[in-house]
Amino acid sequence: MNPDLDPQTALAMLGWQVDLGVSDAIGEVPVNRYEVVVEAKKPKPKAPPPVAPPEPQGNGAAIAAARQMAAAAPDLIALKSAMAAYDHCELKKGARNLVFADGNPTARLMVIGEAPGRDEDRLGFPFVGKAGQLLDNMLAAIDLSRKAEDAENAVYITNVLPWRPPQNRDPSPDEIAMMLPFLARHIELVQPDFLVLMGNITCQALLGKRGITRLRGNWETVQGIPAMPMTHPAYLLRTPEAKREAWLDLQDIRARLKDKQ
Ligand code: URA
Repeated sequence: MNPDLDPQTALAMLGWQVDLGVSDAIGEVPVNRYEVVVEAKKPKPKAPPPVAPPEPQGNGAAIAAARQMAAAAPDLIALKSAMAAYDHCELKKGARNLVFADGNPTARLMVIGEAPGRDEDRLGFPFVGKAGQLLDNMLAAIDLSRKAEDAENAVYITNVLPWRPPQNRDPSPDEIAMMLPFLARHIELVQPDFLVLMGNITCQALLGKRGITRLRGNWETVQGIPAMPMTHPAYLLRTPEAKREAWLDLQDIRARLKDKQ
């Protein structure tokens, strides 16, 4: 346990463990699981070639405009401005804020969620509602934080969609396709060592696959970067028993981060 941990974070981490089913301390002395060697599930991939995101369907002009604007953005500030100036996506009209990202862009880990909800739309940052609090606790359990200044402990967070879909409906394939060039450029500019793909919409957008309960726990590759699909924190809030598997995925991510230092 980090000696600098503040009591609130320590309490949140304890709550996370209790949710996972921890009820007793079974050893005389605490075991630091991060020091225990975890067998890698799969052999380390040999420098995979960059893989482009799946080809979007339809909506040609909107997608072409997004590609052109995204490619012209030399940095994150320019990318955010390009997204703000993009007028092809109807979701923009109903949203209060463009939700671009949060956290430290030098982070080794980039988390990609689906789309802003009501709280995110109101505040302009990703994952700030209930699911976001759970996400923060999950990350704290492996010593990561969106507030960390050092790249080692930092996380950078964004979403597939920067605008809230009305009534939190699923984004349409057209909406995803037209915003995908911006996300691909976002990943390219941040250049994280690892990605976490939260939920079905994100896996559909970046892997062209759905079925998160099957996909989770198995490393994939997105734009040449190892990517871990995980069940979405909102799903974990509704399905607490799935937290055990999410904890395994977090440990796997922690091990990979330590492995590749
Ligand atoms: N769910 C997401 O996928 N992203 C957010 O920013 C909030 C909730």
